[in-house]
Amino acid sequence: MSEHETSSETLGEPTRRDFLYLATGMAGVVGAGAVAWPFIDQMRPDASTLALASIEVDVSSLQPGMSLTAKWRGKPVFIRNRTDKEVEEANAVALADLKDPVARNANLPADAQATDLDRSAGKDKENWIVMIGSCTHLGCVPLGQAGDFGGWFCPCHGSHYDTAGRIRKGPAPENLAVPTFAFTTDTVIKIG
Ligand code: FES
Repeated sequence: MSEHETSSETLGEPTRRDFLYLATGMAGVVGAGAVAWPFIDQMRPDASTLALASIEVDVSSLQPGMSLTAKWRGKPVFIRNRTDKEVEEANAVALADLKDPVARNANLPADAQATDLDRSAGKDKENWIVMIGSCTHLGCVPLGQAGDFGGWFCPCHGSHYDTAGRIRKGPAPENLAVPTFAFTTDTVIKIG
C-alpha cells in the first residue's frame, strides 16, 4: 500500500478500493431494480382478469333456511336465504350491544351501521345475506347455523356470529365482511 493511500485513510476519505466497492454496490442495486420492475408489472392484473374475477351465482334453489358457499377470488362466500325468524332475531339486537357496530358492507359507505338491513341485500331482499366466509380473527372458515347466536361459529378459537354475520362473542374483532355484490335477476347474484 502506498504512503498516499495510507494518509487518505487516516483522514477518513474513501480510498480507491472503497470507491470501487461502493460503485459496484450501486450497480447491483440498479440492476435489481431493473429486474424487479417488469416482474411486479406482470403481477398487476389487467382489466380482463379483473372482469373474470366476478362470478355469477344462481340462487334459485335456495329456499328460506338454505345456504350455499361459492368460491370467489380464492375465498369462500356464504350466501344464505334467511328465514323470517333469523331476520327478526337480527333486527331485535340493539346496535349498542354489538361488538362491531360498523356494517362492513362493501356496497355501502364505510361508516354505515351494522343494522340487519345494512348487513343484508337491502330493502325487499333483507332475507338474503352474502358474506366472505373468513373469520375476522385469523381467517378460519366459520360453520353455518351454529354458535350461541344461531348464525355462524368459528371453531378455531370460538368466535360466535349472529344471523346477520355480526361478531357477538369470542376473539374476532369485526363482523364478517360483505363483498361487492348485486342481484342481476331475481335469482342470480353477481359477486365482485
Ligand atoms: S380464526 Fe376464527 S376464532 Fe380464531
